[in-house]
Parts: sequence; C-alpha cells; structure tokens
Amino acid sequence: MTRVGREVRVRRYPVGEVSPEDFEVVEVDVRDPAPGQVLVRNTWTSVDPGLRIRLRTDAPAGYFVAFPLGQAMDGVMAVGEVVDSCASGFAPGDLVSHAQGWREFAVVDPGEVQLGGVGTLTRLDAEDAEPSWFLGPLGGMGLTAYAGLHVVDALKGGETVWVSAAAGAVGSLAVQIAKLSGNRVIASAGSDDKVAWLRDELGVEAFNYRDGDLAAHLNAVAPDGIDVYFDSVGGDHLEAALDHLNRSGRVAMCGSISEYESEPKGPRNLFLTVSKDLTLRGFRGSSNLHLMADMQRHMTGWLRSGEVVSRTTVFEGLDTAPQALAAMIAGRTTGKTLVSIG
Ligand SMILES: NC(=O)c1ccc[n+]([C@@H]2O[C@H](COP(=O)([O-])OP(=O)(O)OC[C@H]3O[C@@H](n4cnc5c(N)ncnc54)[C@H](OP(=O)(O)O)[C@@H]3O)[C@@H](O)[C@H]2O)c1
Repeated sequence: MTRVGREVRVRRYPVGEVSPEDFEVVEVDVRDPAPGQVLVRNTWTSVDPGLRIRLRTDAPAGYFVAFPLGQAMDGVMAVGEVVDSCASGFAPGDLVSHAQGWREFAVVDPGEVQLGGVGTLTRLDAEDAEPSWFLGPLGGMGLTAYAGLHVVDALKGGETVWVSAAAGAVGSLAVQIAKLSGNRVIASAGSDDKVAWLRDELGVEAFNYRDGDLAAHLNAVAPDGIDVYFDSVGGDHLEAALDHLNRSGRVAMCGSISEYESEPKGPRNLFLTVSKDLTLRGFRGSSNLHLMADMQRHMTGWLRSGEVVSRTTVFEGLDTAPQALAAMIAGRTTGKTLVSIG
C-alpha cells in the first residue's frame, strides 16, 4: 500500500529571529519498512531551543549536526504508534519514542543510536503516563533537569538555587526537582503570568527578569547570595549569577538561549570564577543516559503523587511546528512546547 505523509523541511537558514517562512511542509510517499525496520505514525513531536542552533551551516563543535536544507529534519524527538514492524521486539500498536519528528510517518531503524541514545527507538509503557510525558518529564527534559542538578551536586538539598527560564520545559522541572531535594529555589521568567504560576502553583520565589534589573532582583530575593545557578540563558543572566554566587558556588550550564539568535553576549566577569572558587559545569542531558532510569523512577512517583506538575503548551497539527518554535524562543509558551500530530 502506498502511504502518503507530510514532513517539515528547512527552506533557508534564518538570520536573526526564526520565522515560519524559513520552513516548508511537503507531501512525500512513505516507503514500507525494510527488514529490521519499523514504521511509526507520529502523534506528538517536540519543539526545542536546540533546533535553532542547528538552523545554520555550522552547528557548534560537539553539538548535533546542522539540518540540511530541503530534507526531513532528523534528530527531533517524537512519540508515536507502530503501524508496521519488520523488527523483533516491536509490533503494531506499540507506543514508541524516537528522533524522527516533525513528520507524520517515520521509518525507524531500532539499531541506530539517535541523539546520543535519548532518541533511539524505545518502546514506552504508558499504563500510568500520558504519552506526551515522554517528551517532557519522563524523557529528555526530565533527564536534562535531573542531570544538571546532579552534576553540580545540588540534589543533596540545603542550598539556595537560582533557575532561569524557569517556566519552560527544562526550567520548570529543575525548579521542582531542586525544591523536592530540599533546596530554597529562586525562579526567573519573562512575564508576570509565568511568575504567578511559579509562585502560586510550583511554590517557589520568583521574579520577572524583564521587569527591572537582574542584580536588583537577586539582591532583593537572595541577600545572602546563591549557591547554585541552573543556567539556560547565558549572557546577562550568567554574568549576574557570577556576581551573586557565594564562594565555591556552582553553575549547571544547560543552555544559552539569549545567544541562539544573536552574537555571544559575555559574561564579562569570568575572573570571579577564580576569586570565588566557582565551578562552571557544562553538561548534556544525552551524556548522562546512565541517570535516565533513576530519574524516571523518581519522576513517575512525583507525577503520580502530584508533587511534580507537567505543564504543556500544545500547537495543533504538523504545519504549526515552525510557528511553535518561534513562539517558544520568543517566550510565548509555558512548560513543554509540543505539537500534536493528528
Ligand atoms: N544541556 C542539554 O542537554 C539541554 C537539553 C535540552 C535543553 N537545553 C537548553 O535548556 C534551555 C531551555 O530549553 P527548553 O526546551 O526547556 O526551552 P523552554 O525553556 O521551554 O523555552 C525557552 C525559554 O527561554 C526563555 N528565553 C528566551 N530568550 C531569552 C532571553 N534572551 N533571556 C532569558 N530568557 C529567554 C523564554 O522564556 P521567558 O518568557 O522566561 O523569557 C522561552 O520560553 C535552552 O537553553 C536549551 O538549549 C539543554
């Protein structure tokens, strides 16, 4: 049977802010799976800031490769249902995750390691879980939040932890895990609505970084300094954190979204790492796969008990994926940004 599906392709690399016109959605014939392969109908696909870093000729050294122009975008997480399988261990009807998102159908090779292993075809047990959670708290987002706190030794509690981009996918999980681990958590985000959600529903102290000066906010909320900074923003936020960190403070360097659509912005005060014995620790979620099972065990319990809240902003239909990416980077989404595909 000839199946037809649609996929998103990059038409041109954006200069500055990403726009839906940088992409096109095209109809393609979907081939049958070859021996050893699985055909998946995608139902959810992920929208991540990291996609923006790959919309250029030269993705940063060590990062996932740039998306080629005019082809399906490989290396984007998705959840879907197996519709045809020529591989042992997978049968029609199975719920799976893999890394061939931003398209309706994907022919997936279970033996191919994708996104450092996070995106390798995996059968999911959704008995007690929403399928979309595997793109959020039970997937790469949960792993990144957990691993970031782990690598800077912030899961032991008793410290003051600042989390930036705190109403987003990774940030909102880092906030909740840091709090459940017994830390005092300070969260920052870019709107009053997000700040109200962080305060009223996640129960942490929070401020709107667009409203006034970062240093003034930090001085007001943490007059005794911070011990850990979970950095998703870089630039001015990282600079403010270095100023405000206590001696032997640590930074979990998760991302640098303030620089993804513009020139690098600093920080200008790196000598403080020397003078205050600070540790700046870059990390990748996918480099910490060994923590996945531990994270999922904790997270499943927290989601069931309601101790962790998973919030999403959902865009309907594959065509909305480019628009969802632009909205997320601009700060117009809260929690995990997802596209629901039919
Ligand atoms: N290390 C890893 O393995 C790994 C894995 C996944 C993600 N990440 C990184 O983690 C960060 C968050 O990713 P996510 O998927 O959870 O996205 P997200 O937080 O759900 O969305 C990104 C958010 O960043 C904020 N933002 C955008 N520009 C900003 C700026 N100039 N200053 C301050 N905030 C800004 C916006 O919220 P506001 O309204 O608050 O501005 C926006 O909603 C990104 O840096 C991403 O690259 C790293």
